[in-house]
Amino acid sequence: MTEGQAHWDSAYSTKGDNVSWYQTGQTPSFELIKASAPMRSVSIIDIGAGASRLADNLLIAGYSDLTLLDISEVALSRTRDRIGAAANNVAFIVADITRWKPSRPWDIWHDRAVFHFLTDSGAQDAYIGALKQGTVPGSTVILSTFAMTGPEKCSGLPVQRYSADTLAARLGPDFALYTKGTEQHHTPFQTTQDFIYAGFHRK
Ligand SMILES: C[S@@+](CC[C@H](N)C(=O)[O-])C[C@H]1O[C@@H](n2cnc3c(N)ncnc32)[C@H](O)[C@@H]1O
Repeated sequence: MTEGQAHWDSAYSTKGDNVSWYQTGQTPSFELIKASAPMRSVSIIDIGAGASRLADNLLIAGYSDLTLLDISEVALSRTRDRIGAAANNVAFIVADITRWKPSRPWDIWHDRAVFHFLTDSGAQDAYIGALKQGTVPGSTVILSTFAMTGPEKCSGLPVQRYSADTLAARLGPDFALYTKGTEQHHTPFQTTQDFIYAGFHRK
């Protein structure tokens, strides 16, 4: 087991849903995916899905081609157990996104609060390599990171903060920014965290 897997498995084993990034309901991610993809047959991958309720909401909304990837098996097992029979129609991938080679492209690539953990350029390049392999021209990419006014750490780990425009610059010219927004996320600990959301079309 790698240090990264051990860190995240331990976080989910000890804290459950009592984590700063926990959220439910009609989140910006859910709204952006619905706005980008009214057709329920589109394929969606959630990178660093963790135990997020986004999967539950997408399934309830009728999306039928869903893949969840996370470095933590504990987190994905929680989602598998929680959604019950619906899990039969979901692909679960336990992998480190910086080492993973996608075997197919997706229409929608979503990531809330994962890319920002990659603080060295080699890991960021590896992520962008996977992103290019896991999408095709016309695919939609929805990324959310801590804003420039957001926390400097999450789960005890340093993060790289972005604006939508610095994120666009980091992804490079193959991704055209089509929408951007901000969110003040309310954590379960009565604190707030500033996030940015950015939607891109793969050129
Ligand atoms: C802050 S949590 C966000 C989880 C989820 N996206 C959400 O919004 O609830 C970060 C997630 O990224 C996962 N993660 C961290 N580093 C990763 C990596 N290198 N590859 C894949 N997943 C990773 C963690 O296990 C964790 O579930």
